Amino acid sequence: MTSYIIEGGRRIDGSATCSGSKNASLPIIAASILNGKTTKLYHVPNIHDTNVTLEILKILGCKVTKNGGKIEINSKNMNSHEIPEHLMREMRSTVILAGAILGRFKEVTFSYPGGCDIGARPIDLHLTAFKKLGVTIEEGAGYIYCKCEKLIGNNIDFDFPSVGATENAILAAVLAEGTSVISNAAMEPEIIDLANILNKMGAKIVGAGTNVITVTGVKNLKEVGYDVMPDRIEAGTLLCSAAITGGRIELNNVIPEHITPIIRKLEETGCKLEVGENTIHLVAPKRLKAVDIKTMPYPGFPTDMQSIFAGTLTTAKGSSVIIENIFENRYKYVNELIRMGAKITVEGKMAVIKGVKRLCAATVEAADLRGGATLVLAGLSAKGTTRVNHIEYLLRGYENLDKKLNNMGAKITKVEEN
Ligand code: UD1
Repeated sequence: MTSYIIEGGRRIDGSATCSGSKNASLPIIAASILNGKTTKLYHVPNIHDTNVTLEILKILGCKVTKNGGKIEINSKNMNSHEIPEHLMREMRSTVILAGAILGRFKEVTFSYPGGCDIGARPIDLHLTAFKKLGVTIEEGAGYIYCKCEKLIGNNIDFDFPSVGATENAILAAVLAEGTSVISNAAMEPEIIDLANILNKMGAKIVGAGTNVITVTGVKNLKEVGYDVMPDRIEAGTLLCSAAITGGRIELNNVIPEHITPIIRKLEETGCKLEVGENTIHLVAPKRLKAVDIKTMPYPGFPTDMQSIFAGTLTTAKGSSVIIENIFENRYKYVNELIRMGAKITVEGKMAVIKGVKRLCAATVEAADLRGGATLVLAGLSAKGTTRVNHIEYLLRGYENLDKKLNNMGAKITKVEEN
């Protein structure tokens, strides 16, 4: 078990630079399967989830070299289309590899994906997209086998704008015969980043970032070098670390338009923000004001920031209401915040947070990635020494969060125990 020991009550004051985006890196790494050549990626965060994805690529026969955030993948000799079950269970987004493997080999075998337990997280929309492209799907005991003679472009109309299913549909369609039109597509910036690298390889994708994406199949793709976009959820987390401690932060390598709803909500809490081209400067008031939040698909307020904001609002003046519309099991962190003195009640999709003056330190358990991050922020503001156990969850998605916070005045020590 890995834990953070946090000496609370210290203001965050300083500057931090956002790492490359986790959620953009994963489908982009998958895209490197499609060209059968070399792909050079820059600013890939060194975190559990990218490392597992690269590990799978190696097992499938790709050559992977890593030098800090610079990753070189050569997929020429990739010779397997079976994603190992034990790694598939490590994280949900491994499902993204399925679309790319299908695109390249016209067959793929995988099992149901794992990942943070924040709801049912089915993959029906991914499979529907594959079927639309002419894929036959056989589901056996614990595995899914997809095969087709060739992928044929088609109209794919999603019931819900799923991020992963949209990415999988794009990855499977780029080398298909003919044109695919993906309607009710997710509009997240990570999808634009995926389309950008694929277009740089020679794909023909139009409309990424809108709810209708057209993919005209091409015969092959070229070698490419690509710089992954900054992580917008890390940006929100770092801004909230200053907000909850009454501090200030100069955030670099951020794309402000990606986090407009986060900026707006932080302004509503009373924080003063100066937004530059790739920077945000935030100064927090002594005590935040309560705000209400509803999570929605992009460009709405991101579900990945729901827990982070909930933690931040525990000490705000007044009552905040949060409605979680994307995942049904995303309040697991609430009991841990309550152990730290927060006053939160949850009923179905809704959480009501009655702001308290101060949180108190406690030993708490992280149970998922973003829930873990909110416990760290709570620990920063609480009086005394907080211990957050099982930060393995947090290490799935944050690169050097402890170091970045310590550079701005926090006192976090990482401890490992067997
Ligand atoms: C991605 C992000 C995750 C973020 C989420 C929503 C990655 C690696 N992860 O996850 O951080 O929280 O988007 O912004 O990019 N659904 C179905 N059937 C499907 C697929 C999804 O019912 O086949 C449902 C899910 O259960 C969920 C909702 O759709 O309720 C949103 O899921 P989706 O957008 O697919 O999220 P992910 O791609 O898993």
